[in-house]
Amino acid sequence: MTHLRLGVNIDHVATVRNARGGDNPDPVRAAKLAQAAGADGITAHLREDRRHISDADIAALSTALSIPLNLEMAATDEMAEIALRHRPHAACIVPEKREERTTEGGIDVVGLHQRLAPIVGALGKANIRVSMFIEPAREQLDASRKLGAPVVELHTGAYANATGAARAAELARIREAAAYGASIGLEVHAGHGLTFDNVGPIAAIPRIAELNIGHFLIGEAIFVGLEASIREMRRLMDEGRGEVGASA
Ligand code: PXP
Repeated sequence: MTHLRLGVNIDHVATVRNARGGDNPDPVRAAKLAQAAGADGITAHLREDRRHISDADIAALSTALSIPLNLEMAATDEMAEIALRHRPHAACIVPEKREERTTEGGIDVVGLHQRLAPIVGALGKANIRVSMFIEPAREQLDASRKLGAPVVELHTGAYANATGAARAAELARIREAAAYGASIGLEVHAGHGLTFDNVGPIAAIPRIAELNIGHFLIGEAIFVGLEASIREMRRLMDEGRGEVGASA
């Protein structure tokens, strides 16, 4: 089975910093620590309202990291221009509403084809690996493929929020979408709402190549420190994947 990559989302280090203004805690320091703790990449969402990550953070992360930066961004001309200026390794296109607390659902690639096509095309031409953050549904996978995006990230929020039989159904939906996505040539990632308790079954899905995890890891870091938080997530991912001891 392929190694499952871990992208650590550092948005909420910036949330804590912004609660007081100033420079602390520094998201770049967190990113470097995440790298040392075994993160394969760093993810940061530059929201249109700049509620956590700032333009200066993206500039600093673009030069400070030796692991790939994945820029989460809305499909706007402003964000495309920023991505083309900094040329991160990857860009994940997310839906964005100012009134939402977090990215509550996947982007409607089917309905937004016309809006998305020029942005995905321009990013791809600049060698930025584009992913579409979508619900685990066949029509969204087909539309992402049609758009020419090489990667999709499956929204795991509904799985994370469900319990019992509903969670099992959401897991089956993600498993089916991952297999279908891979069968039509897409690289499949997943993320949102993943925790120590729910990551195992997602890590076990063989077609998923990368998980992007943020809020829980930063919250857990309050109690055990960021490095321990990330190392434990890495261990649980490897265990779920059937690679126990592989990263010891
Ligand atoms: N992937 C995407 C595309 C996201 O928008 C987010 C949230 O910013 C995440 C992953 C990480 O979600 P969480 O912070 O719940 O782990």
